[in-house]
Formats: sequence, structure tokens, C-alpha cells
Amino acid sequence: MPNIIKPLVFNVIAECKTSKARASKMILPHGPVDTPVFMPVGTQGTLKGMLPEKLNEMGLQIMLANTYHLGTKPGPEILKKAGGLHKFMNWDRNLLTDSGGFQMVSLLKLAEINEQGVKFQSLNKEKGEVMLTPEHSIEIQNAIGADIIMQLDDVIKTTSPDKSRIEESVYRTTRWLDRCIEAHSNPDTQNIFPIVQGTLYEDLRIISAHDLTKRNLNGFAIGGLSGGESKDDFWKIVHLCTDLLPKNKPRYLMGVGFATDLVVCSALGVDMFDCVFPTRTARFGCALTMTGQLNLKKTKYAKDFKPIDKDCWCSTCKNYTRAYLSGIVTDLPIASTLLTEHNVAFQMRLMQKIRDSICEGKFPEFVQAFMLGVHPDKC
Ligand code: GUN
Ligand code: ZN
Repeated sequence: MPNIIKPLVFNVIAECKTSKARASKMILPHGPVDTPVFMPVGTQGTLKGMLPEKLNEMGLQIMLANTYHLGTKPGPEILKKAGGLHKFMNWDRNLLTDSGGFQMVSLLKLAEINEQGVKFQSLNKEKGEVMLTPEHSIEIQNAIGADIIMQLDDVIKTTSPDKSRIEESVYRTTRWLDRCIEAHSNPDTQNIFPIVQGTLYEDLRIISAHDLTKRNLNGFAIGGLSGGESKDDFWKIVHLCTDLLPKNKPRYLMGVGFATDLVVCSALGVDMFDCVFPTRTARFGCALTMTGQLNLKKTKYAKDFKPIDKDCWCSTCKNYTRAYLSGIVTDLPIASTLLTEHNVAFQMRLMQKIRDSICEGKFPEFVQAFMLGVHPDKC
């Protein structure tokens, strides 16, 4: 019998006694991932402004890439010839790719969805209109070769009032999952995750989670949130979805990356997160700290000789002051690199604190101290 290693092993190593938070060691084809984990987004096979070597040195275990962008440029043929994206971009740790539909719907006003797939204007002008089907998304994701790949899903804005369209998106997402599973050619090396949809309707979320979990896959995602709904609605749906998803498999909340949401949603039993926010905001001169954000463009930092955060281990905080960063922030690419490095390190440090406190049985105390830091006036 050949010794087939499962492409995903998920071992919960500690559980919080008063919340649904858990810490786990997940093993993927390109190494371990300690969860809860935040995955920064390297849209086009690069985390803008940072070399993979540096991210490796920082201890990052997994990052995201996007099917939509990579499928257009360099395209699946070149990715296949390169031996997959890991080799192509010099990153030998884990990768996760999103399926592409969400990016088109959120980026391109012109995207149009029907049962076949998502129709949109190609980034490559010569190609004109193209259709991203579940099969095509998986073909590109197979060429990219990420350790976790996402099903193509029918995403509806959380604020949409049209329940019948949302219901259609739930059933369509399940039908598209089956087409994705059928098209998937590397199930031994790439894990496909379904995505629970249903916006803010609890009955639809229940149907979606129930139908998707019947397909015995290695992990599940919660989609269609963080799109302008209230925090109360957002957290209520996350709480419901984590109750509906299997305890022994990773749960991935898509598009979520604000510090408070990471803490609250870890308490609700989420294991994986991603968001462009920390890296995008760095490029606009904004540094994240445990007590909020610093906009280094503000003149008050010009004479501030402290590091961004004295407790941060990143090389920006070890070597540069707020005054220096504030002086270069408006015009130099290097400022973008330095701030991106800090913000990625900030997200990693926050997740490490979440994991350590769960493992030490002190997660509730950590949450309290964190909230006090962020909202000193409210506690
Ligand atoms: N990123 C953030 N939310 C979503 C979602 O609902 N679906 C997909 N595919 N990607 C996302
Ligand atoms: Zn730092």
C-alpha cells in the first residue's frame, strides 16, 4: 500500500474553557501552520514591497494569492511550466488561493453571474469578455498549486435585501462546489475548501453549512461577511457558522483582518483569517499597534524618536524611529516596505498572543487586556 499522506492534518492542542477559542497545529504539504492564523495577501504572487525570503525569516507560515490576477498574468501555462507558484515566486511554505469570483465581483462593477459562472471584462484587453467557471477556476488553481484552494462561490453583498437571490446563491454555491470537486485534479496535494454563504439570514446559513459539510472535505470557509454589516450582525453569523461547522476541521473566515475582529472571532472558534487591510494600509503610511493605528503622515511624528512599537520584534521597530519613517513616508517605496514589514509582524504577534493565551489557559484575561488597550475609555 502506498503511504498516502493526507494533504491536511488538523490537531487541536488547546481549547479555551469559557469561549469557543482553540489553538491547533495544522500540517499542510508545505509545512506546519499554527492556528489561529492570519494570512497576509500577496495578490499577484508577491506580497507588495516584501521579499519572500524576508517573510520566511520572520516565520510566516502561509500567505494568500489570487486566482483572478494570476490566471490573467502570467496565466496557467507559464505557471505550469514554472512548476507552480511556490517555485515561481521562491516561497516554499504554504499558499492559499482564493477562487477569483469574489475579486471580480468586488473589483469590477461589470461582473455578471449566471449558473455557468462569473462573466467579466478581462484585465487582458485583447481577450474582451471572459467567463470564469468553477472548472476554469480549479484549472488555474491546480496550475498555481497552492496547498489550500477555494471553491468558486456566488457572493452576494451582505447588505443586499433580495432574499430570493441570496437563497439562489446558497444553492448555486453548493452546485458549484460539486463542479469544483469534479474538476479538481490534485486532491492528494491540494485541499479544496467550500465557502458557507447566506449573508445575514440564519436559515440560509444553516442550509448552506449543512449542504457543504455533507461533502467530506478537510476544512471549511465562512464567506460573504465584512461587507458593511453591523458588528453585531457580523459576530452573530460567525458564531452561528462556527457552531454549524465540524469541530475537528479548520474554519476559515474570509476577508477579516482588523485586530478586534481577529480577537473576537478567535473566541468564536475561527482558525484562519485573511485580509488586504494590514498591508494596504501600510502603503498609505499607517502602522498598526496594540492600542490602535498611527498615521505616520501626521506632522506630530516628525520629532517622535520612539519606534512604532517598543514591544515589536520586527526590524523596522528595531532600527528606525517614527520620526525617520514620518520623514520618508510620503514619497519613498522603502517606507512602504518598512511599514508593510511592521504590519505583517504586528498581525503575527497578535495571533501568537492569542495562541499562547489559549495554550496557557489565559485567553479570557488576554481578551480583557486587549480590549482595555484598544478602548481605554470604554472599560
Ligand atoms: N473574500 C472575502 N469574502 C469572500 C467570499 O465570500 N468568497 C470568496 N471567494 N472570497 C472572499
Ligand atoms: Zn514593528
